[in-house]
Amino acid sequence: MLRISTPHGFLLPGILLFFSLVFLPSTTVQGTVETAAKVSLVDVKCSKCHTLRRIFLMPRPENEWPETIQRMADKNPQWISAEEVKLIEEEILSTRSDRVKAITDERQDYDDARLLFIDRCSSCHSVNRVLLKAKTPAEWKETVERMRSEARDWISKEDGDRIAALLAKRAEILKEDKGGDIFVSKCLVCHPGERILLETHDKTGWQAIVTKMRAIARDNLPMARFGNEEAKMIVDLLVKTQGPESRKKPGG
Ligand code: HEC
Ligand code: HEC
Ligand code: HEC
Repeated sequence: MLRISTPHGFLLPGILLFFSLVFLPSTTVQGTVETAAKVSLVDVKCSKCHTLRRIFLMPRPENEWPETIQRMADKNPQWISAEEVKLIEEEILSTRSDRVKAITDERQDYDDARLLFIDRCSSCHSVNRVLLKAKTPAEWKETVERMRSEARDWISKEDGDRIAALLAKRAEILKEDKGGDIFVSKCLVCHPGERILLETHDKTGWQAIVTKMRAIARDNLPMARFGNEEAKMIVDLLVKTQGPESRKKPGG
């Protein structure tokens, strides 16, 4: 069993931040200032709305940091105080290159292009950002190249080529498959796509999951409800893109 950890999507952290802002009494927020200084203030304060990789992977000149950090703090001064802005600035400027090195040292290679895609492309945003777009193979090539230009240390030329080929192939399948639109409109509403893309199952396995999701959607979220016919189309698509044979046949 291959297990890799993916950075969490935007949904859960967003919800957690919302609740912490609503329910944390201001004394607790003050209280964390002292203890958090020993930990990393960046880790504590800057990882709720986006990944830490989003902060470090994209190179920027030193003199742009104060403005960026201030802009982030302005979103909610109760979450990031003026005092913390100073400390975060010091922390980022002094640890930035070590952080980038640690991130790139962690880089793993995957024979399966889908795992490579999930790993590289969920570093700054959820893969939903990718799955929600319908693009032609040529447009995917261009998008991947643009993303790579923002994170060259993280996505090698070869990685980019393999990911563009994967997305082009997926685009071809989705173009011919009616399940594609339904998958996008129903399955990416509640959780980040990583959660789905990392699973591979045969038809029975996908049927069980989609049936369970249908019940969860029916009971919890009217806008995400879907019928029997739609469920069948989603299952067919998932068997095609994430069926058991894809475990044996890496690459592409
Ligand atoms: C309340 C949510 C929130 C918090 C907290 C937050 N950010 Fe952001 N950050 C955003 C949003 C929204 C964007 C812009 C959308 C995007 O590109 O992901 C962004 C983008 C960025 C970017 C890249 C874009 C740019 O303008 O350069 C950097 C770097 C960044 N944040 C750093 C930080 C740092 C450092 C902290 C902690 C001090 C932090 N963020 C805390 C919401 C937040
Ligand atoms: C270093 C951070 C970073 C990495 C890594 C990254 N992205 Fe992005 N991505 C961004 C930012 C920032 C935006 C929003 C601004 C923009 O569109 O350039 C974005 C937007 C997007 C969009 C929506 C805009 C569009 O052009 O349709 C897609 C699709 C996308 N990324 C795909 C990918 C893919 C595929 C990968 C992996 C090859 C990837 N991203 C890796 C930072 C990143
Ligand atoms: C209304 C919200 C909602 C929608 C819509 C939804 N899911 Fe889920 N999904 C969940 C929840 C909640 C869980 C966690 C269930 C658990 O822990 O028992 C989950 C878990 C999963 C899992 C993990 C495996 C498992 O059995 O728990 C997979 C895979 C998955 N969903 C795929 C899908 C697919 C495919 C679709 C589209 C047909 C979909 N989801 C639509 C809420 C949803």
